[in-house]
Amino acid sequence: MALQSAAAATLLPSAFSIPKEEMWYLLQSKSSAYLKNSTLLGISLSDHVKADSSSCSLRIKRDCNQRNLAIQAVATTPAINVSTPEAKKTLRKGSVVITGASSGLGLATAKALAETGKWHVIMACRDFLKAERAAKSAGIAKDNYTVMHLDLASLDSVRQFVDNFRRSGRPLDVLVCNAAVYLPTAKEPTFTADGFELSVGTNHLGHFLLSRLMMEDLKQSDYPSKRLIIVGSITGNTNTLAGNVPPKAYLGDMRGLVGGLNGLNSSAMVDGGEFDGAKAYKDSKVCNMLTMQEFHRRYHEETGITFASLYPGCIATTGLFREHIPLFRILFPPFQKYITKGFVSEEESGKRLAQVVSDPTLTKSGVYWSWNKDSANFENQLSQEASDVEKACKVWELSEKLVGLA
Ligand SMILES: NC(=O)c1ccc[n+]([C@@H]2O[C@H](COP(=O)([O-])OP(=O)(O)OC[C@H]3O[C@@H](n4cnc5c(N)ncnc54)[C@H](OP(=O)(O)O)[C@@H]3O)[C@@H](O)[C@H]2O)c1
Repeated sequence: MALQSAAAATLLPSAFSIPKEEMWYLLQSKSSAYLKNSTLLGISLSDHVKADSSSCSLRIKRDCNQRNLAIQAVATTPAINVSTPEAKKTLRKGSVVITGASSGLGLATAKALAETGKWHVIMACRDFLKAERAAKSAGIAKDNYTVMHLDLASLDSVRQFVDNFRRSGRPLDVLVCNAAVYLPTAKEPTFTADGFELSVGTNHLGHFLLSRLMMEDLKQSDYPSKRLIIVGSITGNTNTLAGNVPPKAYLGDMRGLVGGLNGLNSSAMVDGGEFDGAKAYKDSKVCNMLTMQEFHRRYHEETGITFASLYPGCIATTGLFREHIPLFRILFPPFQKYITKGFVSEEESGKRLAQVVSDPTLTKSGVYWSWNKDSANFENQLSQEASDVEKACKVWELSEKLVGLA
């Protein structure tokens, strides 16, 4: 399949004028997915869930509209002036929490920040020993990092992590929500400790609880530029070729999220459709990008915290693809390097995320960053769904119920 896709991609007529860096996503398409329309695959929900869903959406629509009137489309705001007298007082190292820093993008970012000598990195990881070994083999100096246990697939673990972090006495200047799972070949859903479908449960709900709880810590920081970064992806954006490769991200009316994504009395998928592991990952990334914008609208003006997301580029070698078929894993990196030329090394992606964490010129809030072929950053456009204000509010309110905040 991967070979066929690779061949097809190289043979595409130039009239399609597909940006080469996006062609790799064709590799991930499943032929069967072209044949199905996910909107036609609604599962049979119980009347209870249906009623719950519609009253919830009515209420949320009302609440969201009221709130949106109040905030009147808070636009992205200019950079915080880091040369204020208060900012100049802060001479200490920055303190950054990075989830999933035991491999790939997270590890490369931890290394890039630690090497500057200006940051202490808290590596928030589910496998303590793996993270320690990864930090050592990446050559991160002991003084520049701390490993703390965090399993995003357990809400108890998220709460425990926050408690442990607070007990450590460290300030929180930047939180990076980076960890993710991607299960493109899964035939059946698997679930978090709290019974949520694993991809959305880990990538979105675990991070949602973490970032909501840690807002208190960020607010208390005296660092000149406080930031909350949530890693997004091109695959969740249907305004790109990559985002149009089936199965496409689509949250629909979120009846699955209303029902708790448990696969029992609700679908395991946010839109209530049939389980599809690749789509669940893309949906989770839409939730990530919507959450970042909702944070911006709710908190940026009041707190000065910068909220941002990014697409770090196609990092073809990371563990994200560990669940993919072996042939895909073999062919994907050379395909990226030599055919699409869209390959981004882990080191380069780490520099990009480190830039979003620490560059004094990147303090604009509410932004989704991307990089061009010369590795210059630019503000990218999110798809219609990934920038839908009402959906962002609904994701927020449903998520806070599921994680026990409302
Ligand atoms: N690779 C790409 O081309 C690409 C493109 C766009 C966006 N991204 C995004 O980049 C981010 C990092 O991905 P990556 O490519 O660096 O993949 P990766 O190497 O697999 O890193 C993912 C990290 O998440 C951690 N993780 C998974 N489940 C967790 C859980 N329940 N609790 C805590 N940590 C957990 C993993 O821990 P273990 O080490 O214990 O497995 C690993 O450290 C993701 O948000 C992904 O969506 C990647």
